[in-house]
This record gives sequence, structure tokens and C-alpha cells, in this order.
Amino acid sequence: MKTAAMTALLFVAAVSAQAHVATLENFTAKPILADLKDLQALNIPVVAKEESSQVGYAVVTPQMQQRLQEYAHANGKCGGFEDVSQDMQGTTLVSEGFSKMLSNLAELKQKNDLYERAPFRALVAQQNPALTAAIDEISVTNMQETVNWLSSFPTRYNKASQPNIHVEEMKKRLEAMLATSKIPYEVSLIDHTSTKQKSVRVRLTGSQRPNEIVVLGGHLDSINMSWGGGDKAPGADDNASGSSNIYEALRIVSQKAQPQRTVDFFWYAGEESGLLGSAEIAKTYKAQKADVVAVLQLDMTLFPGSGELVIGSMNDFTSSWLRDYLKANNETYIKARIVDDKCGYGCSDHASWYRQGYPTLMPFESKMNDSNSNIHTARDLVTKDSNFNHSVAYTKIALLFAMDLANSTARQPF
Ligand code: BES
Ligand code: ZN
Repeated sequence: MKTAAMTALLFVAAVSAQAHVATLENFTAKPILADLKDLQALNIPVVAKEESSQVGYAVVTPQMQQRLQEYAHANGKCGGFEDVSQDMQGTTLVSEGFSKMLSNLAELKQKNDLYERAPFRALVAQQNPALTAAIDEISVTNMQETVNWLSSFPTRYNKASQPNIHVEEMKKRLEAMLATSKIPYEVSLIDHTSTKQKSVRVRLTGSQRPNEIVVLGGHLDSINMSWGGGDKAPGADDNASGSSNIYEALRIVSQKAQPQRTVDFFWYAGEESGLLGSAEIAKTYKAQKADVVAVLQLDMTLFPGSGELVIGSMNDFTSSWLRDYLKANNETYIKARIVDDKCGYGCSDHASWYRQGYPTLMPFESKMNDSNSNIHTARDLVTKDSNFNHSVAYTKIALLFAMDLANSTARQPF
């Protein structure tokens, strides 16, 4: 559905964007996706916009990028925008690429809207003793150990001279941990074309409906973006924390009965350089027509900026169905306070899956504004402000996905 205003906008865009294409090749400007309000507040020309999700596309100069970044930082956001040059490949006109992405986003937004109008929305979760027992097995000590181990690497940056040291060690740890599992499993490293870093995947094959896939993931890479801050990127919160939630959930699930659906656990490569690993993986799954029922993204779970057990549930690039699912199960198993918020752009790997049309969920450590200000620096360490009791809630969410969703026939109705 294209409105007259949008068509007009795209026309203007086609003219102005074409003018930018030449400079694009010189890397002086790039196509980005950002919060519409941020773009408008800074008077950055919006090439095209999607009103319902409040996102705008723009072609920005380095100066504009800096202004956007500073503005976003001042407003408690992280990078403030997403570089979408990768998605533009294959389209000659920037405006054409934009409009394609926008109609895709609008379509996905419609799916959510349809769901939100459905009368059967209110889900109630019945207590499942097997899940309660699994939740009781969560070990804070194990989670701490994993975060300490991951954050002890000097960096996990995808452009580091040796970007796979921690990746290879992760694979070894997983193999050792899974050796006693009775579930058919497979540990693999996934090669990428956009980065030398590899992603890690553990697949537990489903017993009843192996073609239906539940995905759990977080990015394993880290970055140091501070000026003159050196190269050290411990990334304890961002994202050893989410990685450890997924790891601990796998440890517990791997000792249980085989799930009915297949469960894929991911530790993605190169997220900090533009969702690189997950973008390739989600595209591959889509190309293979994989039936991904749900995707959980855990990225930053250790800093309780809005209070212990206050979970920020990102509302953009995620699905109403899974956000409702979380709220219903929260009452039964987690008892946290869930507050709705948004990133304003595709801030983590869930966006990669969402763009391919798969249902996603991103529970975050706090409200966006209250999140850890030390990420992307050498100070992203385990400190007195780190709270593993808070982080446990996210391991519970991972267990819900792997043991409840993976044993049900529930799926997004539209
Ligand atoms: N963990 C962050 C995203 C984040 C930070 C979400 C603060 C909410 C609050 C993630 O690793 C990241 O830094 N993402 C990039 C975007 C990506 C497309 C390069 C960002 O936010 O700049
Ligand atoms: Zn992150």
C-alpha cells in the first residue's frame, strides 16, 4: 500500500538519492535506517518513511552520521542508526532499494496489527512442572563463569587480526558440554562472506516436528568504539551476558527429553559491524524456506538500569504474538515487570530475522534510556553494577522458548 504522499516522497527521493549515489561509492555517504523522529529533529532529509513503524530511511554524510550518533547518545540510544548499504546491493537506484524495504516493513507491521485486533489475544500460561523444575536448575555461578570467561578475551571484534579465537574455544566448550546429551545434536561453525568471523550454531533436532524451528540467539562479538580508548573490548554486558543466558539454557535443556520441534542455538558473528552473521543466516534460512516458528534475541541482560527484574520488551522489529507470549508466561514463571520500549532501528540480530518475515522477540536489560552506558568501551566489565539475579530472568525466557514453545504447536496466527 503506497500513499500519494509516499509516492511523491519517493520521487523527490529518487532525484536526490541519485545525486548521492556517486558519493556513496567514495564511502562519504551511506544509506541508513533510523528513528523518524531523530531524523526530523536533526533536519536530515528523509528519503522515505514508514509511518506505522516510525522509521525513516536517509542517505547521510559522515557529518550527519555524527550528529545522529550524538543525538541518539544524548537520548540514551546506542548507535542511533543502522547502515543498510548491504541490503542495497543489487539495486541501482537507492530509492528503489528503500521502497522495497519499506513495503516489506509495512507488510510485517500489518501482520502485527492483524494479530493485535484478534479476539483471542489474551494468552494464559498453565504451569508446567517440567519447566518449573528446569528453571530451578539455572546456576548463577555457571552464568558468571561464562561471562567472566568471554570477557577475558582482549577483544571479540570481527575485524580483529584473529577474530575466531573465542569462537573456536566456544565450539570446544559446547562439544564438551553436550557429550552427555541424549538428544540428537550438531555443533557447527558457520562461515560468512561479509566477515571472516564465524557464527556458532548448536542444533537439537526435534522428535515430532523437526521441520519447525525455534531459534535462540545472541551475538558473541564485541567492539571498542571509544575515541582513543584502545582496542580492548571485554563486552561483558554487550554481549557476553546474552551469550551466557543462551549457553546456560542449552546446558539444562540438553539433559532433558528431546524437544518436539528443532531448537537452534546461535552465537552470531559480526553483529557490532552491522548484524553481519545473523543477516546471512536469516537469508539462508529464508532461501531454504525454513519454517522458523519463533526467534529469541538476547543482547545485554546484565545491567538492571530500570531496576532489578524490570525487562524492556522491544516493540520494533519484533512480533506482537511473541511479546504477548512473554507477558503471559512472565506471570507464571518469571514475575518480572515488563515495560514496552523500542530501539528505533534494527539494533540487534532479531532485526535480521524479522526482515525475512520470521516472528521475533527481544527482551532487553532495561528501558533503552536506562541501559548500560559503558558498552563498546574497555569498561564493559563485570562490576558491582552487574546483576546476575536480574540476568537469570533472561535464561528463564530462553528456557521457555526451548522447552515450552519447542514442545507446542503454537505459532503466529497470521
Ligand atoms: N547491544 C547493542 C544494541 C543496543 C545498545 C540496544 C543499547 C539497546 C541499547 C548492539 O550490540 C549494537 O551496538 N548494535 C548497533 C547496531 C548495529 C546495526 C551495528 C548499534 O546499536 O549501534
Ligand atoms: Zn550488543
